[in-house]
Amino acid sequence: MEKISDYLCRYKNYIFAVDLTTAEYMDSLQSFEIRDSDVFLVTYPKSGTIWTQQIIISICELAGGLNEYPNNLEQMPWLEYREDRANYALRPSPRLFASHLTPMLMPPGLKEKKGKIIYVMRNPKDNIVSYYHFSKAFKGLQIPKNLDEFLEQYLTGNVVGSSWFDHIRVWHSNKDQYNILFLTYEDMILDLKGAVQKICSFLGKNLSEAAIEQVVEKSTFKTMKKDLKANYEFLPEERMSGKFMRKGQIGDWKNTFTVEQSERVDRLIQERLGDLNLKLIWE
Ligand code: A3P
Repeated sequence: MEKISDYLCRYKNYIFAVDLTTAEYMDSLQSFEIRDSDVFLVTYPKSGTIWTQQIIISICELAGGLNEYPNNLEQMPWLEYREDRANYALRPSPRLFASHLTPMLMPPGLKEKKGKIIYVMRNPKDNIVSYYHFSKAFKGLQIPKNLDEFLEQYLTGNVVGSSWFDHIRVWHSNKDQYNILFLTYEDMILDLKGAVQKICSFLGKNLSEAAIEQVVEKSTFKTMKKDLKANYEFLPEERMSGKFMRKGQIGDWKNTFTVEQSERVDRLIQERLGDLNLKLIWE
């Protein structure tokens, strides 16, 4: 790993937080054996990971056959950050993983369409605001002086997860190689039940109408905020001083961005991703 600041290091063109993983472990993912029943939730940071995690876990719990773990982080651990990594091969199926990685760092077995990937995208302006607040609360990330400074780092890809633009492009342009479902944070806000149904059908889980309603209820912002297994307040004080469950809305960027900042992001989306015809929802 090449250290590029006190907080960040680079490996194979992807930026990690320092001390959370190693080059050896990342290389070992190239021979990580994928099972047909594996489910990977892949996101750029601050795009709705813990929300979708709660939906997937609730669906699998109600469908039956899921082992019990003390919280959602243990139930769906990070592919790239696990401390007791050797355990993954011993974990009973179905295994659930979360990841912020790009395709080239993921286990190649996924390309044989073994396992399933759920990819969640969030509009980049709300993503930036969420990431900005998170950087002030999560220990181990550089605390930005102001939004302008963070925006510069984000737009140049100098943050954990590298560039949002590259993440979106590389996952969209490689989609045919994978068994993958694309969702957006905004679609989930606008129609949570529809998103739950899509995830259910992608995972091949046949839940009753009542069970679907139960998943929806467990995954609302209000319920999740109080759910000690899901709200990440189980993280120790020395790692996180704020809340993962912050606002949970579309359009908070309007309270935070100047017109110039907003137009700069618009221009970059056009320049870097214009050909993908992404459906971005801003409010
Ligand atoms: P905000 O900071 O805008 O509130 P991640 O899990 O990828 O780190 O993303 C965190 C973002 O998802 C936060 O956004 C958080 O509030 C939001 N979120 C978490 N659970 C949610 C839910 N049930 N409904 C809506 N948003 C949720």
